[in-house]
This record gives sequence, C-alpha cells and structure tokens, in this order.
Amino acid sequence: MKKNGKQVVLSGIRATGKLHLGNFLGAMRYFVELSQDPAKQCYFFIANLHTLTTRVDPKLIKHDLLEIVLDYLAAGINPENSVIFAQSSVPETCELSWLLGCITPVSSLTVLPHFKDKKEQMESLGQSVNSGILTYPVLMAADILGPRANLVPVGEDQKPHVELTRDLARRFNNLYGPTFPEPQTLEGEDIRVPGLDGSGKMGKSEGNTIDLIDTPEVIQTKIARAVTDPARVRRTDPGTPEICNVFGLHQLLSSPEEISYVANGCRIAGIGCLDCKKILSDNVVRLLELFQIRRRELAEKGQSFILDILRDGGQCARAVISETVKEVKEKMGVPAY
Ligand code: TRP
Ligand code: SF4
Repeated sequence: MKKNGKQVVLSGIRATGKLHLGNFLGAMRYFVELSQDPAKQCYFFIANLHTLTTRVDPKLIKHDLLEIVLDYLAAGINPENSVIFAQSSVPETCELSWLLGCITPVSSLTVLPHFKDKKEQMESLGQSVNSGILTYPVLMAADILGPRANLVPVGEDQKPHVELTRDLARRFNNLYGPTFPEPQTLEGEDIRVPGLDGSGKMGKSEGNTIDLIDTPEVIQTKIARAVTDPARVRRTDPGTPEICNVFGLHQLLSSPEEISYVANGCRIAGIGCLDCKKILSDNVVRLLELFQIRRRELAEKGQSFILDILRDGGQCARAVISETVKEVKEKMGVPAY
C-alpha cells in the first residue's frame, strides 16, 4: 500500500520552544537523509495539537510553529519534495483520532511509560491530568495512519507509541478489512543523545541542552560546565570515557580519529577534560554554523515565506489524509452523506 510505489515516511516534532542538539542528532539528521531518497515520500509536521496537552500560551504555540518550520528548512528538508505542515491544518486527523479511539482499549494507554511519567510529574506539581495526556498516542496513531505511513523515524522514547499504532492498524484491518500498512520505526538507530548534566538524555525539561541557535560562546560555556567522569578530579587522574556524557557526544559527532584520541587520552590521563571539551565544542560549533547561517537567511525571507510553505503543505497533507478518513468512515458505517 505505497503511494505511487513510494514508501511513505512520516514524523512530527512537538512545538515546544527551541530545538536542541538532541532533536538534531536524534531525529532531524535522519529526516534530512530520508527526504533525499527519491523512493520515499516524506511528511514532516509540527505536532501543535499535541503541544496543547502541556502548554497553554497561544502566542507561544503559534510562534513556535513558525520557528520549527525554519529549523526543518535550515536542517536541509526541502519543501519541494517533502510535505511540511502543521498538525492543526488537517482537522480530519482529529476525526480519525476519535474513530481509532473507539477501538483502543483504555488499558493499552494507561500502561504506556509516557503516560505514567507525565501523570506522575503533573500530579506532583499539583496540576490536574487532562484527558489529552491519556489519548495522546491515539492522536499520534491518527497522525501516522492518516497518510498511511510505512516508516516513522522517531527517538527511542516514542517507539511504544508507534507499536500501539501498529496494534491499532492490525485491529482495524481485522475488523474492517485491509486499510492500513503497519508502520515501522528505523531499525538499529537507537540514538540516545546524552545531556550536559551527567543525565542520560538531552531534553528541554531537563535543562541540559545545547540549543540549535546557541552562539559559539554559549556552546563553549555550556560544554565547559558539562559534568564529566567524577573520578577525574585532577588532570593526572585517569578516567572512564564510557561513563562520561562528554564522550557520549563525541561519539555522535566527532571523527573516528578524534574519538579514539580522546578515549585513550582520558584512560591514561594523557589529556585533560578541558582539551577533550575543546575538541567537542569546536565540532559542535562547526556543525551548527552552517545550520545557523541557513536559518538566518531563511528568516530574512519573512513570515509570509513560511506561511506559504505551511499553507501548501497543509493542503497537500489534507488531500491525502481526508481520503483515508473518508474510507475509514465508510468502512465503520458512519459515512458523510
Ligand atoms: N509525540 C512525538 C514527540 O513528542 C511527536 C509526534 C506526534 C509524532 N505525532 C507523531 C512523531 C507522529 C511521529 C509520528 O516527539
Ligand atoms: Fe570525559 Fe573527556 Fe574528561 Fe574523559 S577527558 S572524563 S571523556 S571530558
């Protein structure tokens, strides 16, 4: 069930503020790579409806939407061959979400790690848990099944959601006849981008990020302050690179020569953490430099340039998704006469 013989790729990013190196290394790099494959039709969207589960400031949500489009474009996604759109441009996705919700056991939602974590977090802050937190993955399944995606490149933390989507696709196909392909995630690409604070993951809520629009000075300062192997108190103390997040970042973006140089240097105390961090900072600055130049150029084109992309992408996505939803409604016995 491939469109024009092409494999359909779909992924989304939630619109919550500045994107960081974790988003770039863990997701956007792959989006760009996939989008350059002529055998694939890619859809990349900004999940602004999902943002509503945890955010309330309309101005910010609206602003972040445009910022993320700039990020997509600056990273190298070409709107000529990929469909870039806002989730909120396609009302049929919400319709599909309801239809799928009616075949989703509540128990399959309450067991998901994302739900349990968010619920706990919100309750500990004295916030009430809205039903969107629970049904988040059903909307995500609608995002994926709407354009009948075959491949969904997402980070490790989102894989349980894609698995649920597969279950729902299978359930639907069994009940109503073949309709949806069972979407796959990228295999062997479990990228975990460590944070700067010694924790396992770079994340916005953790406050341990290098942001894609950080200046070279900010990048240097953040990396200089990053937590390292605590056993290396003095320059002469040998360290264990494998437990150091700075080394984890080296592994994701430094050259093989640099990686073995810092690993050996760390183990035999041949280099100091400052030397090691300097190499990393230089590489991050270089990686983000091109991105930032392109982003600035694109931003200068003005808001209407971005709005046009969203309008075109929205129309294109809507045409495809509304076809699916029409078919689903027919099959479920709720046609739109
Ligand atoms: N939940 C994803 C995240 O937080 C974003 C997302 C929403 C998504 N819908 C999707 C990703 C569909 C892939 C496919 O990162
Ligand atoms: Fe970490 Fe590098 Fe210091 Fe080793 S030398 S502890 S890898 S920062």
